[in-house]
Amino acid sequence: MANQEDKFKKVISHAKEYGYIFQSSEIYDGLSAVYDYAQNGAELKKNIRDYWWQAMVQLNNNIVGIDAAIFMHPTTWKASGHVDAFNDPLIDNKDSKKRYRADVLVEDYVAKIEAKIEKEVTKAAKRFGDSFDKKQFLSTNQRVLDYQAKADRILKRLGKSLENEDLADVKALIEELEIACPLSGSKNWTDVKQFNLMFGTKLGSTAESAMDLYLRPETAQGIFVNFLNVQKTGRMKIPFGIAQTGKAFRNEIVARQFIFRMREFEQMEMQYFIKPGTQKAWYDTWKEKRLNWHLSLGLGEDNYRFHDHEKLAHYADAACDIEFKFPFGFRELEGIHSRTDFDLSNHEKYSGKKLQYFDPEENKSYVPYVLETSIGLDRMFLAVFSNALQEEELENNTTRTVLKLPAVLAPTKVAILPLLKRDGLPEVAEKLVNELKWEFTVAYDEKDAVGRRYRRQDAIGTPFCVTIDHQTLEDDTVTIRYRDTMEQKRIKLNEVGEIVAKEVDMKNWLKKLA
Ligand code: GAP
Repeated sequence: MANQEDKFKKVISHAKEYGYIFQSSEIYDGLSAVYDYAQNGAELKKNIRDYWWQAMVQLNNNIVGIDAAIFMHPTTWKASGHVDAFNDPLIDNKDSKKRYRADVLVEDYVAKIEAKIEKEVTKAAKRFGDSFDKKQFLSTNQRVLDYQAKADRILKRLGKSLENEDLADVKALIEELEIACPLSGSKNWTDVKQFNLMFGTKLGSTAESAMDLYLRPETAQGIFVNFLNVQKTGRMKIPFGIAQTGKAFRNEIVARQFIFRMREFEQMEMQYFIKPGTQKAWYDTWKEKRLNWHLSLGLGEDNYRFHDHEKLAHYADAACDIEFKFPFGFRELEGIHSRTDFDLSNHEKYSGKKLQYFDPEENKSYVPYVLETSIGLDRMFLAVFSNALQEEELENNTTRTVLKLPAVLAPTKVAILPLLKRDGLPEVAEKLVNELKWEFTVAYDEKDAVGRRYRRQDAIGTPFCVTIDHQTLEDDTVTIRYRDTMEQKRIKLNEVGEIVAKEVDMKNWLKKLA
C-alpha cells in the first residue's frame, strides 16, 4: 500500500513539475477537486479526445458528433431522473465531523482485501518463479478464495441495500465491518442520508425573473433532447449513434485522488439508438469494442477488467464498468450502460413532444432503446499518465524518469536539439523545426548538455529526439534517439519526418481497431 501511495504522489508531483496539471487558482491556495491542464496536459488531453472522436465518429459511418450547451432547460433534469435520484449516500463521523460517501467507505474496505490478494500473488510468484500460473493460483489457493468470497459478499450486500434504498443497512454494514474514520479512527457514525450532486445556478438578470438551472451532471442529456433533430437532419437509420465530448459538473463529496474524481470534469459519451429487444447483443458488442479501443493504446491487458454493476442506475437494465488499475487499485474508468427507452420516453412525457423513430423495415414507429458508452476524459488522462510514468535503473547505476506515453498521444512528438549553440548548427535545427511543424508538435531545445536535454524530453514523454551536429553539415545525417529504448541511430535528415510519422500517426494506431 505504501508503495502505491508513493507512486501516486510521484504521479501528482511529476504532473506539476513537467507542465501537465496545476491545482486551480493555486495562488489562492487552490480550489478543492478542481484542476487546470497546463501546456503539456492540454495537448495530451486533446490527443486523447481526438483518439476517441476519430474511433467513434470518423471510423463509424453511422455515428455523428454534436456539441450541445452545458445549460439546459431545467425540466430536462426532472425528466432524466437526476432531480429525484442523482444522489450519493453520505455519512458523517461524529467525532471528526468529516463527511464521507458511505459506499466509498465500504469500497475502500474491499480494496484493502483486494490488496491482500495481490500480496499473496506477489509472494507466490516469488516462491514459484517461472512456473507460476497466476490464473491457477487465484482459482485454487484457499486463502485467496476466502478473501475473494468475503469481498464479493460485501459488495453484493452493499449493492442490494443501495438498490433498495435501505440506508439503515448500509450503516449496519459499516458498523459490522468496524470501518473507522480514516482521520480520527473513530467508529461513531451518523445515519446515512442521500445528497443530490447537481450544482444549481440562476439564469436571468433580476431576482424575480431568474430561472433555476443546473450545470449538467452528464453530457448524455444534450444528446437525448437532440435525438430527433439529428436523426431527421442527418437522415440517420437505426442503429445509429450520437457522440459528444464536453464538461460535466458534480458536487462530489469525496472529491479526492487528484483528477480521478473532480467537481468539474469532461466526459466523452456516445448514445447508440437501437431497436427495442436488441439491447443485449449491442451491450456485448460495445463492451468488446470499447475494450479494444483501450487495448489499442498498449497500456497492458492485465490493467483492465470488467465489473458488472450490482446496483443499477435509475435508467439502466444492464451496466458494467471497464476498470483500470490506477496507482490506488482497480477503479472505474468507463461505463457501458443499457439505458432502455427510459430517457427518450421521459422526455416525451415531460415535453409533450413525440421522440419516435419510424422504422421502414418494421413499418411502425417506436421509441428507440439506447446503449451508452461513457468515459471520463480526465480519468483516461490519469490512466495513461500514471501508467506511463516509470523510474528506470540504467546500466551505469543511475536512474532515469521517463514518461512512456503512447507516441500517438504524446504532447510533443519530436524534439530538435543542436549539439552546440554555434557553428551554424542552430540554423539547421531551426530549418528542420520549420519543416516538421506542419505535421507534428515539435520542440526546440539548445540549452544544457545534450544528455540533460534527452532526460528533460524523457520526463515530458517526447518519443523522439533528433540531434544536429557537425557531421550534419557535412553529410546531411542526424542522430535520432528513441525515448523508450534510448537507442540512437544515424539517419538522413530528410528521413526524420517519415520515421516520426510512422510511429505517431493516429491512423496507424486506429488500424488496430479494424
Ligand atoms: N451518462 C452516464 C454517466 O454519466 P457515470 O458512470 O456517472 O455515467 C461516466 O459517469 C464516466 O464519467 C465515469 O466512468 C468516469 O470516467 C467519469 N466521471 C464520473 N464522475 C466523475 C468525476 N467526478 N470526476 C471525473 N470523472 C468522472
